[in-house]
Amino acid sequence: MKALVVYESLWGNTAAVARAIAEGVGEGARALPTSEATPELLAEADLVVAGAPILGFNLPTEAMRKSIAADPKYRANPPDMSHPSMREWLERLPRRSVAFATFETRIWWSPGSSAKKIAEVFDAAGYRRVAEPERFMVTGSYGPLKDGEIERARVWGEQLARATT
Ligand SMILES: Cc1cc2nc3c(=O)[nH]c(=O)nc-3n(C[C@H](O)[C@H](O)[C@H](O)COP(=O)(O)O)c2cc1C
Repeated sequence: MKALVVYESLWGNTAAVARAIAEGVGEGARALPTSEATPELLAEADLVVAGAPILGFNLPTEAMRKSIAADPKYRANPPDMSHPSMREWLERLPRRSVAFATFETRIWWSPGSSAKKIAEVFDAAGYRRVAEPERFMVTGSYGPLKDGEIERARVWGEQLARATT
């Protein structure tokens, strides 16, 4: 099955989860940052999975990303700002009817959900939901992921593959 796992990740936690999901989906699945998840790859995917962190109780906004990039307090843990945000990537999401699922990484219970927000855009573009929005937990502001979350992501990927075929 051709699957695309696209992610936004400033400190690498969401990227690590995305790679584990792709591994679980199996052969033909690729985990890619927003800059590399091109319309061509999207057009040939049977399953699209999209994920992002929650930052400031929300799917990262451009304002949030700008303030992080400008704030010296993040210099000790420099964020990777070299890829477009998930919000920007979603602006160009083509209408399709293939399977999709969404996920987020987060530290604690907080209002707002990146995964739900991304899922709303896929719903509106005609995609078919094969799983409820999923969450993967980190232990501190910049990670690392909680023990067992990578394995859980891999198993979730296997489930998505079964739900898609
Ligand atoms: C500036 C900042 C704001 C955050 N805001 C939230 C939040 O509102 N809710 C939450 O659950 N986690 C929050 N977190 C934790 C991140 O969601 C978590 O570290 C996430 O895994 C980061 O993903 P990434 O490593 O892929 O960038 C925040 C972290 C940072 C650095």
